[in-house]
Amino acid sequence: MFKSILVTGGAGFIGSHVVRRMVTQYPGSTIVNLDALTYAGNLENLRDIDQSPNYRFEKGNILDAAFLAQLFDQYQFDAVIHLAAESHVDRSISDPLAFVQTNVLGTVTLLNTARNAWQNDLDGKRFYHVSTDEVYGSLGEEGLFTENTPYDPRSPYSASKASSDHFVRAYWHTYHLPVVLSNCSNNYGPYHFPEKLIPLMISNIRQMKPLPVYGDGKYTRDWLWVEDHARAIDTILHQGRTGETYNIGGNNEWKNIDLVEKLCDIMDELLERAPGTSRSLITFVKDRPGHDLRYAIDASKLRDEMGWEPSIQFEEGFRKTALWYLENTEWLDHVTSGAYQTYYSKQYD
Ligand code: NAD
Ligand code: TYD
Repeated sequence: MFKSILVTGGAGFIGSHVVRRMVTQYPGSTIVNLDALTYAGNLENLRDIDQSPNYRFEKGNILDAAFLAQLFDQYQFDAVIHLAAESHVDRSISDPLAFVQTNVLGTVTLLNTARNAWQNDLDGKRFYHVSTDEVYGSLGEEGLFTENTPYDPRSPYSASKASSDHFVRAYWHTYHLPVVLSNCSNNYGPYHFPEKLIPLMISNIRQMKPLPVYGDGKYTRDWLWVEDHARAIDTILHQGRTGETYNIGGNNEWKNIDLVEKLCDIMDELLERAPGTSRSLITFVKDRPGHDLRYAIDASKLRDEMGWEPSIQFEEGFRKTALWYLENTEWLDHVTSGAYQTYYSKQYD
């Protein structure tokens, strides 16, 4: 049981689900959310729990070593769950350096701070680094990523996450910093920023805008309900073996075009539109450079050691997601105003 837990990136998509889970599951622990509130961070994601007595928000940047040291001193953290990152592949293609800064330098700055703060007593401490399956590269039609798959990152995003993973392991081997890592497949669910495939499609279907499918749409991803990821993180934080890596996946592979078509059908039903209305919006557009063909995860290590399994499959999760966006149009309208429009025109026009 950790008494004081630092969650970085807790105002983002996955981070907000992790914060919510930790705040509600562990009322006797203090949960500190450190977030720089970039375009991807939104405190509205946490409105339902932000008055909880065991929750604190600290606005700050993981690149700011002095600020981090002061925070560790103030809260005496015994655990860190590190999620803060630049997370979108398309943005990494147009601005790779931002990804090196936050994902690589930011992670090393945080590792240094934890090492300094904990150097006299590593007992009962844990540094949890949250990473992605994209570090393993791209699969062909067959096979799954295991924890032993060699790293082969192919986008600036995955290269920066791979680099951060290597640094985390280096701090374990060199300084005995008690780390644990996980590499997860694509998440979906509430509070997902509409630059990523699923919320972007939902947002566009709602507005009857074109649905931009990259290339031939045959690219495959393994989708996991975001609350299942948060539960896996909680499980690994408490039960994972120090120095180990755990793969997390949904066992739920979809080709992009099949997923978008399924989404169109569910949205037509929910919006009471004639069948086929949303499918007519599908538009094949220029492919993403270096687009990875397929990601798929073997999560058997996590299942065998800790009994974790995904709780819901895509059709149920997707319906819940679509309903959430339709019931939270204010959230969606808010995050798609302003800077989002500039990003959207640059990326898609
Ligand atoms: P996100 O982009 O929604 O959120 C990132 C959060 O980090 C935002 O709140 C942002 O404000 C904050 N942040 C960014 N730079 C910061 C900085 N320099 N200092 C402090 N805070 C900063 O990302 P997400 O999709 O929630 O992903 C969270 C983590 O999970 C990332 O590390 C990502 O690599 C990993 N991951 C994501 C997925 C996925 O499907 N989204 C899958 C596997 C792993
Ligand atoms: P994304 O949500 O960006 O996640 P990642 O690239 O990290 O897997 O994209 C998921 C898949 O959807 C990926 O194959 C790229 C594709 N895609 C589109 O076809 N159109 C889009 O507008 C976006 C954002 C993604």
